[in-house]
Amino acid sequence: MTKKILITGGAGFIGSHVIRTMVNNYPDYHIYNLDKLTYAGNLKNLTDIENKSNYSFIKGDIVDDAFIMKLFDDYKFDSVIHLAAESHVDRSISNPNAFIHTNIVGTVNLLNAFRNIWKDNFAEKLFYHISTDEVYGSLGEEGMFTEETAYDPRSPYSASKASSDHLVRAYYHTFNLPVVISNCSNNYGAYQFPEKLIPLAINNIKNRKPIPVYGKGENVRDWLWVNDHAAAIDLIFHKGRVGETYNIGGNNEWRNIDLIRLLCEVMDEKLGREKGESSELITFVKDRAGHDLRYAIDSSKIQNELGWKPSVDFKEGLRNTVDWYMDNQQWMEDVTSGTYQNYYKEQYDNR
Ligand code: NAD
Ligand code: TYD
Repeated sequence: MTKKILITGGAGFIGSHVIRTMVNNYPDYHIYNLDKLTYAGNLKNLTDIENKSNYSFIKGDIVDDAFIMKLFDDYKFDSVIHLAAESHVDRSISNPNAFIHTNIVGTVNLLNAFRNIWKDNFAEKLFYHISTDEVYGSLGEEGMFTEETAYDPRSPYSASKASSDHLVRAYYHTFNLPVVISNCSNNYGAYQFPEKLIPLAINNIKNRKPIPVYGKGENVRDWLWVNDHAAAIDLIFHKGRVGETYNIGGNNEWRNIDLIRLLCEVMDEKLGREKGESSELITFVKDRAGHDLRYAIDSSKIQNELGWKPSVDFKEGLRNTVDWYMDNQQWMEDVTSGTYQNYYKEQYDNR
């Protein structure tokens, strides 16, 4: 084995795609997946690679500093790709503290443990922090976020991610820790937990339940296929410059209501429904507090410097995504049983 790589949050949505990419692309690396298995973590996302000899799963909490320190001491990871986080804005509004613990304290624990095992001897080592475009705040109708855009987070989620980004950069400047950060736009694809817009809408359309659209549905997001994000992470991990930030985006902006209408059309076709039948389920509900109006990413730095670009057209990606959820209904049933029902009731009953 040439490298021992710790990937945190590998049982989650994006993390499982990153694990799969790294395990399959690099048989010489040993990939360790550290995950607490919160409601969002699911080892069924990884059944196709779980028996590979270059993969191991470790259950644990990044907030537990003594556990993290010992883990790094035992395994001496060469690199970290850090995805573990509380990731849902609505949950950060109802319970901000979990976001402070995992996203801020958890990140610092990893930075400290990485620093502790390598002291000042950081040759060939890397701490790669995965972040979001939401740290930059909310755009009006014009403009895009670049790597130079000043941070202006508006939700407890984005504030906690912004805080973790600042700490990662502080460890680079203060302790010479070799770090790299990427900030990505909204991802979509297989294995996304159905608290997020696209899988939630797919599930509701299939079950003929109301599709809750916040406010007037005029908020704009830039959507990227999750496998394109995983490919960008692979590239930045190997070719990104230490100390740098890379923005990753799909150059693919959609107003929520337009995206939902497109999804309804695709679902009508897939389910053999009359055209327009699913869109009757669209229900405008109370807006999210502090709802960021628009995100848009200028990804010219990663495109020009590393030669990355999105590979899939959105309409094709959305069709493939719908196919995946239709072909994997057991996965959806498993994750929406039990505590999901309570979450849904709390979030949507009073909207
Ligand atoms: P997710 O919620 O699907 O997965 C998060 C994973 O982290 C889960 O497996 C969970 O069990 C694990 N985890 C949570 N708390 C933990 C803890 N204390 N210790 C160990 N593991 C813990 O999230 P995601 O959508 O896959 O996002 C992954 C990362 O990418 C996050 O850092 C997020 O901020 C960032 N990101 C997400 C998006 C997006 O559109 N989903 C976009 C840009 C950036
Ligand atoms: P989401 O998937 O939660 O991602 P984020 O908040 O990180 O962008 O939401 C995407 C957009 O969809 C966002 O503008 C909020 C909106 N939304 C709804 O309109 N209804 C919903 O039920 C959800 C979950 C989100």
